[in-house]
Amino acid sequence: MKKIKIAASILSADFSRLADEIKKVEQAGVDQIHLDIMDGHFVPNISFGPVIVKAIRPLTRLPLDAHLMIESPDLYLDEFIKAGADIITVHAECYGELRPHSHPALKRDNKFPKEIQSLDTKKITRDLKRIRDQGRQSGVSLNPGTPLCIQEILMEVDEVLIMSVNPGFSGQPFMNSVLPKITALRKIYQGNIKIDGGINNETAPRAVKAGANILVTASYFFSAANHKKLVQDLKNL
Ligand code: DX5
Ligand code: ZN
Repeated sequence: MKKIKIAASILSADFSRLADEIKKVEQAGVDQIHLDIMDGHFVPNISFGPVIVKAIRPLTRLPLDAHLMIESPDLYLDEFIKAGADIITVHAECYGELRPHSHPALKRDNKFPKEIQSLDTKKITRDLKRIRDQGRQSGVSLNPGTPLCIQEILMEVDEVLIMSVNPGFSGQPFMNSVLPKITALRKIYQGNIKIDGGINNETAPRAVKAGANILVTASYFFSAANHKKLVQDLKNL
């Protein structure tokens, strides 16, 4: 089994003391810093962009993991690469025919969450190659309601990011319904499977058992009394 790695999302950090928060993440033994980039179009929230990524870059040697929850990611890839992101993940939902919502209770203004049934593999491959050609690691992410539709592009990615909440906010409950997708993916993919959303000491074991090897955490990490112990416990699962 792969060694478990932890990515701390600064979405739950105190942005008025970002340098201290980055130090806290480093001292806790976290492996990567997860950057939740939101544009108010792909998700119903706005966070931060390349300016903040650039500001963080000199503060740490940890890999910066840019999770792009934005429409038309191709327009911004170079910006995030220039800003210093090491891992760049785009959402599959930006590269396919959007499908009508299967869970009416989850929809907001008929726009969120974005879900697709099939993928434009040519279009996404072009962007994934662009990331790799510039020496960065590439990732593809799937929203909870998007089925496993990435079989044909697995050789183009260094990791698959499985969303276990509908993206937009930290602090949401983990969706067990995504576990079978991880199990199915692990059967055909030996690379990194990263899980994002609602991770804590109860949900992390389920994700790891299904086949995930990198755990993203925002609210659970930043609300902990002992960050180092939390990271150690998660790594020892
Ligand atoms: C959700 C983001 C997640 C989020 C995780 O849109 O992609 O990375 O920050 O937050 P928690 O760990 O609190 O669920
Ligand atoms: Zn994220």
